[in-house]
Amino acid sequence: MPSQHTRFALVALACAALSVKGQEALSSKRFTWPDIPYQVTGDDGGQRGPQAGFNLCNSTTENQQSECQTAFLNNLGDFCMWSSGTLNDTIGESEAREFAWCTAPGHGTRVIPPGTIIGAQWLYAKNYLQVVGFLDQTKVNLFAGDDGGELDPHGDDEQGNPLGGIVFTNGFGMNSASFQQLASTNNFTANQQYTQVIEWVDFIGTGMFCLKMCNPSDPDAASLCNHIYDKIGCAYNAIADYGSINGTFEVCDSEDMTPPGVFVENGVTTTWFQPASGPVVPPYTTTVPSSSNCVTYQSTQLFAAAATDPAVSTSSSSASTQTTGSGTASNSGSASSGKSTGASSSSLPSFSMPATPFLVASLILTLTTAGIVLA
Ligand SMILES: *[C@@H]1O[C@H](CO)[C@@H](O)[C@H](O)[C@H]1NC(C)=O
Ligand SMILES: *[C@@H]1O[C@H](CO)[C@@H](O)[C@H](O)[C@H]1NC(C)=O
Ligand SMILES: *[C@@H]1O[C@H](CO)[C@@H](O)[C@H](O)[C@H]1NC(C)=O
Ligand SMILES: *[C@@H]1O[C@H](CO)[C@@H](O)[C@H](O)[C@H]1NC(C)=O
Repeated sequence: MPSQHTRFALVALACAALSVKGQEALSSKRFTWPDIPYQVTGDDGGQRGPQAGFNLCNSTTENQQSECQTAFLNNLGDFCMWSSGTLNDTIGESEAREFAWCTAPGHGTRVIPPGTIIGAQWLYAKNYLQVVGFLDQTKVNLFAGDDGGELDPHGDDEQGNPLGGIVFTNGFGMNSASFQQLASTNNFTANQQYTQVIEWVDFIGTGMFCLKMCNPSDPDAASLCNHIYDKIGCAYNAIADYGSINGTFEVCDSEDMTPPGVFVENGVTTTWFQPASGPVVPPYTTTVPSSSNCVTYQSTQLFAAAATDPAVSTSSSSASTQTTGSGTASNSGSASSGKSTGASSSSLPSFSMPATPFLVASLILTLTTAGIVLA
């Protein structure tokens, strides 16, 4: 065992090596699908390295032990999230070495067992794609009580969390109507024209997740997907009507949210920064951007391919049917709450909190008090 002094010296040495070597930031690396190197970071990950997995993923790497670190966030039937490869882990422990877990087979990754995701909403916003939802996080290897934290392509050393994790999508340019058309084919993975997502955030913990991918063609992508608000969770970073989502699966078009940290009060726009230490209490409440063209789906339809995948069938008992709606009911207009009327009320009794604002406040509190510092 090295002494404290030796350890300190080793850390100092590693820091020096980091600044001398000056590894290229993960968020400045560009890839054109399908030209992906075996590892985008490899041994060059600085003091937190080397990269735990790899990025060149294909059918031979697709299994429930996969160490693939290339994630796809395409649509409500085909998206991945980062989570641990080790049973009963926490995000805080595993942030640097997480792997892609995907709802659909076909990406060379682990497949999220059907029944894991118990409610989700996908928003086609003007300048980003966002999917948020509720899940049994133990099915993606997380300790049931883990408050979790944020993954993003930055971190103090700019090597990303996870180190070397990259994200692609075919979702920019789609909307609720084109997704409905895709869903009618029952193949959510047919389009393989992928664009790299440069700025993204991914939170998971407390039985919830939220993933936001900002369109690289938008000059404000870095602020809409800002990564410096890691202590205030989904409620501020990926604004949605969380109180209506558990138990339903819905796709909507949406306006953009105000970037995290930015708020308007009495006509004055202010940017708040999360303090580096001490209590973190944002001085504003969020407003859910207005949404439209919301359509609900059945999880059995969305996750059908995973349900028949032999690799996952051993690790999942059955397909979830915790959904409401018919998969065809459409609801247009622009409810200012962003909530699709009539599609989700049956899911609410599962919450112990009676009213939506109260529930959201309690989620905010939970996420705020998580106390996990992930940069
Ligand atoms: C499949 O992925 C593995 C692991 O990254 C890699 O070694 C292999 O060359 C890939 N195969 C093809 C055909 O790309
Ligand atoms: C899971 O992890 C938690 C917290 O890290 C620990 O308290 C618990 O004992 C672990 N459970 C198992 C079955 O290992
Ligand atoms: C969807 O389409 C792709 C591309 O044609 C194909 O490889 C895949 O097997 C299809 N998946 C399903 C579930 O039909
Ligand atoms: C979501 O709903 C399920 C099923 O009713 C419930 O067990 C779970 O606790 C809910 N999740 C959250 C974070 O409220």
